[in-house]
Amino acid sequence: MNRIAKAYSDEQFKAMAWFFASQRLYLKPQVYDAALASRGAKLHDKHCEKCHENGGRPGDAGTLAGQWMPYLEFTMDDYLNGKRKWPRKMKRKVDAAIAEEGQDAVSTLIHYYGSQQ
Ligand code: HEC
Repeated sequence: MNRIAKAYSDEQFKAMAWFFASQRLYLKPQVYDAALASRGAKLHDKHCEKCHENGGRPGDAGTLAGQWMPYLEFTMDDYLNGKRKWPRKMKRKVDAAIAEEGQDAVSTLIHYYGSQQ
């Protein structure tokens, strides 16, 4: 993506941002595990809802509800492996969720977001 992105000007990036921001949220039907999703819902309410309000629907922070689950897996991997810069104060909350639920934490959260269809 970096190579493609080099061809655009700042004005063009702004125009694309407005275009994407004006799209309606489409909750994609996808396969999820109900038991994991229900554990994820609790973790979300406790650690993520403050910034990703309404279960992660569009708001000030990134939209998580209905996101394509493999995208969320890649994204969380990038954060956890230092390939994507953490938003302010988010790392602390993700660490707390992992400390509480163990290594399944991220997966339960992803099933919760995927369950919103
Ligand atoms: C203190 C506020 C805050 C908290 C708490 C928080 N986040 Fe975030 N998160 C953000 C912001 C702001 C962004 C968008 C920043 C960016 O794009 O880099 C974001 C982005 C994300 C993204 C990337 C979305 C995308 O479209 O690429 C994921 C995934 C995510 N958060 C998951 C979580 C999870 C899971 C939790 C709870 C364990 C959580 N966040 C808690 C502020 C927060």
